[in-house]
Amino acid sequence: MGIFDMFTQEIAIDLGTANTLIIHNNKIVIDEPSIVAIDRLTGKAIAVGTQAKLMQGKTHENIKVVRPLKDGVIADFHASEHMIKEFIKQIPQIRGKFIQPTLRIVICIPSGITEVEKRAVRDSAQKVNAKEVILIYEPMAAAIGAGIDVESPEGNMIVDIGGGTTEIAVIALGGIVVDRSLKLAGDVFTNDISYFIRSNYNLDIGERTAERIKIEIGSALEELDFTLDDISVQGKDLLTGKPKEIMVSYKEIFKALDKSIMRIEDAVMETLSITPPELATDIYKTGIFLAGGGALLNGLADRIHRKTGLPVFVAEDPLRNCCSWDRHCS
Ligand SMILES: Nc1ncnc2c1ncn2[C@@H]1O[C@H](COP(=O)(O)OP(=O)(O)OP(=O)(O)O)[C@@H](O)[C@H]1O
Ligand SMILES: [Mg+2]
Repeated sequence: MGIFDMFTQEIAIDLGTANTLIIHNNKIVIDEPSIVAIDRLTGKAIAVGTQAKLMQGKTHENIKVVRPLKDGVIADFHASEHMIKEFIKQIPQIRGKFIQPTLRIVICIPSGITEVEKRAVRDSAQKVNAKEVILIYEPMAAAIGAGIDVESPEGNMIVDIGGGTTEIAVIALGGIVVDRSLKLAGDVFTNDISYFIRSNYNLDIGERTAERIKIEIGSALEELDFTLDDISVQGKDLLTGKPKEIMVSYKEIFKALDKSIMRIEDAVMETLSITPPELATDIYKTGIFLAGGGALLNGLADRIHRKTGLPVFVAEDPLRNCCSWDRHCS
């Protein structure tokens, strides 16, 4: 180890639209929502991650709470830089060090990203003392994280449904053979639910409430083979302006989500149709791997199985299934 290497730390960042994960020495050291609260007067970050999420929808005029990523890419460069900086400061192995180490950062990006968007990710990473920045495509990261042997000559299909993008890819021999990147994922599901509740119940609900409904009783099927009880939802009555409570069932949420899920199904079918035949043969045996938080939606794996006729597997921990990919990109 050279003298300079002693001051270099390697970290991997999954800068997601919904959640940011930072991996150091093969361990997840940061797992926080991708949100930052910024003081409008000083321009400084006052909270990041979970703390900033608690402030969402409740701020006064001097504070703005920003989600710096939209559709899988950096939408607010300034806020994203603040957020990454604050997260890196919280890494136990870096926090409190007298000499701040330089960093070698591996960072994952959606497969449909443009050159300009790639530059924004690189620039953001460079601003936090990175001497080297390596980019890796998200579906590849998700496949490695799901335990797939990506180097093998066998084809595998991965569907990563995150917050901002759904990445569908067929991977073989360490590369992406065919892929589709849709700007439709968990955030759109959440919006679908808000819209449904507003138009059917005249009830205005916040983003956090809509996400809670999705997580608790979201469903990709009209008929699930297990029970999900109705839940109570509170919001503001659009007609009277008063707070109001309603009861909602999973069947209703299925209706709210159905169209968006159909678009994901179509994209999966389309990707299968452009997959070379030898790899299609492999996928017939290996099936489809679902990753990303969207994979947790009740009934989704079953629905994709019914549509494709293929075996569908859900990654062990879809929200954190990237913990091992940093080792594969050096
Ligand atoms: N149980 C659940 N059911 C349905 N959706 C869920 C569940 N748990 C989390 N989600 C959703 O998963 C999404 C976050 O997933 P993930 O962390 O994989 O996204 P991301 O990596 O931040 O986004 P992207 O990869 O698109 O940039 C959010 O939209 C969240 O609401
Ligand atoms: Mg992701």
